[in-house]
Amino acid sequence: MNDPLLTSKLEAWFTSNARDLPWRTSHRDPYHSLVSEIMLQQTQVSRVLEKFPTFIEKFPTVDSLANATEDQVLAMWAGLGYYRRARMLHACAKAIVSEHQSIVPSSVEELLKLPGIGRYTAGAIASMVFHQRAPIVDGNITRVLLRLHNQPIPQTDKKTVDWAWSRADDIVNSSQNPACLNEAMMELGATVCTPKNIRCDQCPIIAHCQSRKAGTTESIPLPKPRAKQRKLYCSSIVFTQNQSVLIERRDSKGMWSNMYQVPTIEREDRQPTPEEITTHLGVGADSLEPAGSFTHITTHRIVEFDIYRSKKAIKGADLNYRTIKSLDELAFSNAQRRILSIVEAL
Ligand code: ADE
Repeated sequence: MNDPLLTSKLEAWFTSNARDLPWRTSHRDPYHSLVSEIMLQQTQVSRVLEKFPTFIEKFPTVDSLANATEDQVLAMWAGLGYYRRARMLHACAKAIVSEHQSIVPSSVEELLKLPGIGRYTAGAIASMVFHQRAPIVDGNITRVLLRLHNQPIPQTDKKTVDWAWSRADDIVNSSQNPACLNEAMMELGATVCTPKNIRCDQCPIIAHCQSRKAGTTESIPLPKPRAKQRKLYCSSIVFTQNQSVLIERRDSKGMWSNMYQVPTIEREDRQPTPEEITTHLGVGADSLEPAGSFTHITTHRIVEFDIYRSKKAIKGADLNYRTIKSLDELAFSNAQRRILSIVEAL
């Protein structure tokens, strides 16, 4: 299907309505775009805006990222969640340095061979940075396409995703400027054709929208069946001593792998007692004070945290105290950062 009128309206709209975002520079740096596109997968723009500038300041080039340690990369990623992406981005930078002389490849085919680069990221870099006629599909674009064609189907079904890629391919092939068109589709989904509070009055392609004609826009896409979130119970103790905090490192498995935390025990059946933590540390359980509790929600988990604190010095060969000031350099999950914030109140 060829839609030159539709695509020219989208391109004109984006040219005068694009949000001013730090990665939208007139000349797109391929490495900066790689970082921003990977950060933007599954993370809101507002959160990426907080982290992207400091990440780029710390790792300004693909070589600087490739030469960093995993700990340094994870520390700069802290707060963005889905830490697997940070490890894959690190592996990707290493592969670009070792296999492509530190130059980000420009074709979808070559980009797809890199670790952590899927169809979306390959299409985004190839089109937005290297002006290739490559389609992209993300959640925003799928929703726009489903509404445009009045398809009341669930957004994440494989059939829907295949359909969206083929439709995105049609659209990019009838555009004047694939970079502008792809970003316009994403921007439309992010700012106008939103999941709720849809702003149809501001839509540049309202005249083409089949769901608008049918009056079905608000019920598209069909809601997806909710993934069941499992409960997890965590108890943590903040031990402080001379402006330092006792921390430990998680193992390399599962959620928050290899990240740092204050001593924490987790169970699936009930809240662990603080004594379970002190026994695990091999120390006595006296002088513990309750310091609050909160619920942390992730896509797959509802995590109940109970926090305790103690200013009593504990000793042990394996115990690792770090100064409060130096904690920013280490990778802590958002939940653990929330726990650490109580340290300031001690
Ligand atoms: N989400 C994913 N890529 C994006 C981009 N380039 N601009 C804004 N939001 C995005």
